[in-house]
Formats: sequence, C-alpha cells, structure tokens
Amino acid sequence: MQEEPKQRIVILGASGFIGNSIYKELCSYFKTFGSYYTPTNFYKKNHQFFHYNHEDDDIFEILEALKPNVIISSLRGNFNTQVLAHQHIIEYVKHHKCKIIYLSSANVFDYYSKYPSYENDKTLSESVYGRFKIKIENGIMRLPKRKWTIIRLPMVFGSKSPRVEELKECIKAKEPIEVFPNLVMNVTTYDKLTQQIHYIINRNKTGIYHLGSTDLVHHDDFIKDVIDSLGDYRPIYKQVYTTNDERYLAVLPKLNMLPKNLQIVSTDVIKISIL
Ligand SMILES: NC(=O)c1ccc[n+]([C@@H]2O[C@H](COP(=O)([O-])OP(=O)(O)OC[C@H]3O[C@@H](n4cnc5c(N)ncnc54)[C@H](OP(=O)(O)O)[C@@H]3O)[C@@H](O)[C@H]2O)c1
Repeated sequence: MQEEPKQRIVILGASGFIGNSIYKELCSYFKTFGSYYTPTNFYKKNHQFFHYNHEDDDIFEILEALKPNVIISSLRGNFNTQVLAHQHIIEYVKHHKCKIIYLSSANVFDYYSKYPSYENDKTLSESVYGRFKIKIENGIMRLPKRKWTIIRLPMVFGSKSPRVEELKECIKAKEPIEVFPNLVMNVTTYDKLTQQIHYIINRNKTGIYHLGSTDLVHHDDFIKDVIDSLGDYRPIYKQVYTTNDERYLAVLPKLNMLPKNLQIVSTDVIKISIL
C-alpha cells in the first residue's frame, strides 16, 4: 500500500512567540516551513525558514513555490499589508488543495460586552485591532468551510512568554503594573495551544475554535496571582477602569469542544507560567 504523503505546512510568523512554539511542536511530524521577518544568522542558515515581509513580498509566489496543504497564519505588523497578504493567501487556498489556520483574537468581541462570547456570536469591536482581525476573519469565512479554521485566542501566557517576562521586568524596575479590575477574561498558555493546533491538524478540524481556559478570571486577580506565585514581591498596581460595569473579553466554546485532556483552567495557566 502506498504511504500517505506527509502534510506540508507553512507557518507565517514562525519566528514569533506563538508561531515558533507551533513550529517546534509540528516540525518532527510534518514537512514544516516557517517565515521570519527580522533577519538573524540562525534563520538565515536554517533551510526550513524563509524571509518574508508582508509589506514587500508576494505571498502567492512563495506559496506556489512551497506548495503547502496547511498554512498557519501567526503574523503581526502593518494592518493594511496584513489584510492584503491574507487576500492573496485566501486566493491561493481557494485554488489549491490547501487549508488555512488563522490565529485570531478575543478582541473581535471587544465592543463592550456583559457576557462571554461563543463561536457563532456576532463579532463586534470598537478597537482598530479588533476590526482588523474581523476583516481578515470575514474574508477567510467566505472560503468553503472544509478549507479554514479560525482560532480565537485570549491573552496567551506560559513560562518565558512575553507577557510574563514583561511582568518580571516591571517588578525589577519597580514600575507600576497595570491591572483592569472590571475586565473578566479567560487565558491560555502557548504549550496547550500548540497541542490543540496539532490535534486540529491531525483530525482535520475546521470552523471556529475558542481556545481559552474553561473558567473565567478577573484581570487584576489573575495578574496578582501570577505575581504572588513568582515570589515574595510587592509591586505597585495601577488600577485602570475603562467602564463602570464589568466587561467580558472571554472566548468560550459551545459548538467546537476539544477533548478534556486538551482543555485548560486558569490555575494551570499560572502553574505553567511560573516554571
Ligand atoms: N500573544 C498573544 O497573547 C495573542 C493573543 C491573541 C491573538 N494573538 C495572535 O497571534 C498571532 C501571533 O502573535 P505573537 O504574540 O506570537 O506575535 P509576535 O511574537 O510579535 O510574532 C509575530 C510574527 O510576525 C512577524 N512579522 C512582523 N512583522 C512582519 C512583516 N512586516 N512581515 C512579515 N512578518 C512579520 C514576526 O517576525 P520577526 O519576529 O522575525 O520580526 C513574527 O514572526 C498574531 O496574529 C496575534 O494577533 C496573540
């Protein structure tokens, strides 16, 4: 019997915090390529990596050369050129045997909300970032459903994650740490996220996935718990109130649930983040 050819995966933004964790999780199982933007000797010498700047380069040409059947988009940078790049990625996906996994954000629901958000809730945002993410999501959702997965993420933590490193820096520099007492959210870690993405690829899962902790936390309580778990520090907290009432920035699943072992609770996020 002929062996199944290995999946060919292209990760756009594979030098970034989340993209790089996904690369490390997938590279031993699949033929995996990744893009970087800031040139370093490490990436220049690594043949699985290629330079890509969405402000200058034609992604369609790059994809035609690499022939992926899964594209994972984990980019940041200029919003306009990201939108254009995704229009070209969508064109590629439409005309090839290929699907896209897009890393979106809970911010697509950042318009004042009194409830957590579920997969089919209408997206509504009052921020430039949220509206930009919605624009790309909407373009992707016009593809046939078997060709796309949208992953909506809350804040991503984890050991040595930029968010935890930033807290440590603030403590060291004795700078105030901003907390949002009215913000109710969920959280996750990059390790759990990469396992979830691996599962989504293996099982060929498509549609919208809300990949946050199954429980909700107040932003100020969560940040204080992380810091208390890091050690005996007494940082200065700056309480920021953006609304009078509680507002929710939480993405919970209702339709597309993952198995129990791939779910996470906020106390585990803290335990993992201080390792
Ligand atoms: N981190 C979170 O808490 C979080 C939460 C919700 C959603 N997300 C989403 O997850 C995705 C990844 O986030 P992240 O935190 O991993 O970001 P990140 O660490 O800043 O990584 C961004 C990636 O984009 C690349 N990049 C930047 N400018 C570029 C350009 N002009 N052309 C091509 N590539 C460019 C970077 O390359 P270099 O590093 O080589 O410069 C890097 O590989 C984003 O789409 C974000 O919206 C993240």
